[in-house]
Amino acid sequence: MTPRQVVERLLAGRPCTPRGTAAAAYAPANIALIKYWGKRDEALNLPVTNSLSVSLGPLGSHVELARADASADRVWLNGGELAPDTSFARRASAWLDLVRPAPDFAFALHARNTVPTAAGFASSASGFAALAKAADAFFGWRLCTRQLSILARLGSGSAARSLEDGFVQWQAGTAEDGMDSFAVRLEEEWPAFRVGALVLCATEKPIGSRDGMRRSVETCGFYREWPGRVEMDLTALRAALFRRDMAVLGTVAEGNALAMHALMLAARPPLVYALPETVAAIRRVWAAREAGIGVWFTMDAGPNVKLLFLAEEEERVRGVFPDVDVVAPFVR
Ligand code: DP6
Repeated sequence: MTPRQVVERLLAGRPCTPRGTAAAAYAPANIALIKYWGKRDEALNLPVTNSLSVSLGPLGSHVELARADASADRVWLNGGELAPDTSFARRASAWLDLVRPAPDFAFALHARNTVPTAAGFASSASGFAALAKAADAFFGWRLCTRQLSILARLGSGSAARSLEDGFVQWQAGTAEDGMDSFAVRLEEEWPAFRVGALVLCATEKPIGSRDGMRRSVETCGFYREWPGRVEMDLTALRAALFRRDMAVLGTVAEGNALAMHALMLAARPPLVYALPETVAAIRRVWAAREAGIGVWFTMDAGPNVKLLFLAEEEERVRGVFPDVDVVAPFVR
């Protein structure tokens, strides 16, 4: 099954004919508490496991889509035009190929991130989710959130989780065409929940998630343990969420992130995303907990660390990490 065939199925006869001159959309970034690491289908970004994230509300991507008066797509990011061979421009054009009305139709895509780009929050998830919504508006399809989640997933797996606010679970699904692999919002609201970003290194990671996860799947001898671990962690985290039990949620999320990093470390050649500053920050989190502060961490395929805590601990967390950028996902 190709991405193009999936899009045809999703659109079910709806045409790719622009309804106006331009369309705009916004989608939040998300941080996974239970990680997505490994695909069962690379072309469709179908994951091996379920995953669960929290969306970051006002931190995300604004996207505007229009027709370009040019022979090839033009892509702007935060006001500057990207060279066509940059990673985001290439991936955006490849996604736009799926909905291109005619081979000579070029798009103008303006993306603006409110995620502090240097803070290590992934912007590809919010970018592709906003792009899927913008395309839906541009062509007047009126797809539902689940369909948009599938469409966004074709751009980047974690984008499937950026169509909704709050806590979101992406169901891996089992269908070959991935029509059952989309994310849904969970009922739980937790206004006191906080995510803190520690910027330890602002330069781009040497190996992206896409190549990194492939390497783990193909070469880490204990990757086969991962799906069982995720299911166990997911069950425990969902129960903690239901009870609003931050200690259990933090412990499970932290353990899940470290288990993912074990899959990276055991890949060949090994993937070490942590820098000395990363390890120092992790140790500070643990020392803070020893001192009675309710703070946990998670991290993705990069050196930066995100803190997880409740509003009541914010002052004490800031005491330990004066440079932390705090996000309140449920506060408008
Ligand atoms: C470590 O969604 O960026 O952040 O599907 O290849 O685009 P592709 O990968 P991507 O991977 C995200 C991996 C992660 C964990 C997560 O967000 O669940």
